[in-house]
Amino acid sequence: MATVSDIQALKGKRKIVALTCYDYTFAKILNTLDVDVVLVGDSIGMVLFGEKNTHAVTVQKIAAHTAAVAKGYTRGLLVADMPHQSYQNPEAALENAQKMIVAGAQAVKLEGGREMLPQIQYLIENGIAVVGHLGHLPQTAEKIRVQGRDEVGFMQLKADALALAKTGVSMIVLELMPTALAGGISRSLSIPTIGIGAGVETDGQILVLQDMLGLYDDFSPKFLKRFGNLKKEVENSVKSYITEVTEKIYPDADHSYS
Ligand code: KIV
Repeated sequence: MATVSDIQALKGKRKIVALTCYDYTFAKILNTLDVDVVLVGDSIGMVLFGEKNTHAVTVQKIAAHTAAVAKGYTRGLLVADMPHQSYQNPEAALENAQKMIVAGAQAVKLEGGREMLPQIQYLIENGIAVVGHLGHLPQTAEKIRVQGRDEVGFMQLKADALALAKTGVSMIVLELMPTALAGGISRSLSIPTIGIGAGVETDGQILVLQDMLGLYDDFSPKFLKRFGNLKKEVENSVKSYITEVTEKIYPDADHSYS
């Protein structure tokens, strides 16, 4: 099991590899590979539950899936997302973050900049490691848009990143921003940044597992690269099953009991 410090120590040495995961079966696979950080993300709302956004994701849902992932993924750092409306004030943030830790998370991630400092500070004071999330913030954004292209947004993101780091977050996810901005932020911080749609200059990368495997295709932003085509694999396997069942090929003697 890696600690927050183990992951932080990778900054400047090699890129940090992070992926989302929501279940035991995939967690076991990721555990055999060099995946440094696994996030039980609130993208679960869209990917597993077919919602339009993350709003219906509850603390109970993330905690239950964190417990499942924790059984299969033990080699790296397990981070649980704090769902929408679960950290409106410091007390709520702590109560809900503790549920994630009890479920097996080693850190929690929450979205937002300087306006979130009271919550972040309170969590850290109470011994909970926090991962920040800046740039495009899916819990509150109305639509997906590259952040920090204008002067004001650029300066705001830089200031937010510095403030979060000063308050003691363990690392920061940078979502949907120009490569130069994410690179500049990454170089200005001593903690790692993990990019998604933020170019190659961040300290690591994260993608939603089902997106990069080519399983979930409701979402196709420019930054997303599909590293596999599991949808096709699933279709082919199910087609073979349908044929063999309807033609009485399966179950054959090898798969039957006498
Ligand atoms: O919920 C999620 O999947 C995320 C992304 C940053 C990967 O927060």
